[in-house]
Amino acid sequence: MAVPQTSRQIRKMRRDWERRARENARHYVVTGQEEWSDDEFIQSGRVTLEEEILNDLTNVCQGKDPKEMKVLEIGCGAGRVTRAFAEYFGEVYAVDISREMARQARRMTAGLPNVHVFRNNGMDLSSVRRRWWHRFGLGPRLQLDFAFSFMVFQHIPSRDVIESYVRETGRLLRPGGLFKFQVQGSSQVEPEPEETWVGAPFTEADARAMAERCGFEMRYQFGAGDQYYWLWFFKK
Ligand SMILES: C[S@@+](CC[C@H](N)C(=O)[O-])C[C@H]1O[C@@H](n2cnc3c(N)ncnc32)[C@H](O)[C@@H]1O
Repeated sequence: MAVPQTSRQIRKMRRDWERRARENARHYVVTGQEEWSDDEFIQSGRVTLEEEILNDLTNVCQGKDPKEMKVLEIGCGAGRVTRAFAEYFGEVYAVDISREMARQARRMTAGLPNVHVFRNNGMDLSSVRRRWWHRFGLGPRLQLDFAFSFMVFQHIPSRDVIESYVRETGRLLRPGGLFKFQVQGSSQVEPEPEETWVGAPFTEADARAMAERCGFEMRYQFGAGDQYYWLWFFKK
């Protein structure tokens, strides 16, 4: 159950990201450019796929055929990575706190039947679990093979919200499965609890403690002390 400060922060995140999405979604997703053509935006997602997935197949796929894998993306934005994932993996579940971002992600992945995009509540994966329940009822349990999040937690000022996502992802991942994600690693930036651009910073010790609390082994890390601090959490 969200404590009052967390609820306030989530409402603010939803408002702010809704505004950013309506103003210029693609720019707020990747701030390097003001204007993105469809082709450029799609290509940028393929670059992320190449850098973070294809260069890391041993950890991501662990010998599985990617077309047999169910994967999750947290904070999918306007769908650039979601689309690249859908072209590569068997089934993709994607969540985002902003209705407009989710709408654009659906548009970006239109025609790809293996993608499910949800506007979620900003802190857990209940929307994904609900959809699965409606499809399969008491049938097979949803088990994800891989989960991913990039340039999302670096914007979330609440550690409780980030940890909620990590715990929830742990519930849905199969044992041994990887959650590869990026957090804010720089302590130079001061997160404002009422702001939604600079996220809560993590040290290596913070990250390890979170992994332990949420049932993961933190096997690798890259970029400690940087804005782009990558973590490899394997479900125990
Ligand atoms: C900078 S964009 C990155 C989008 C995407 N990961 C990518 O790399 O293209 C950050 C996204 O995170 C979403 N977001 C921010 N806070 C969130 C939260 N608490 N839960 C879910 N999504 C969130 C925003 O709506 C936005 O779409």
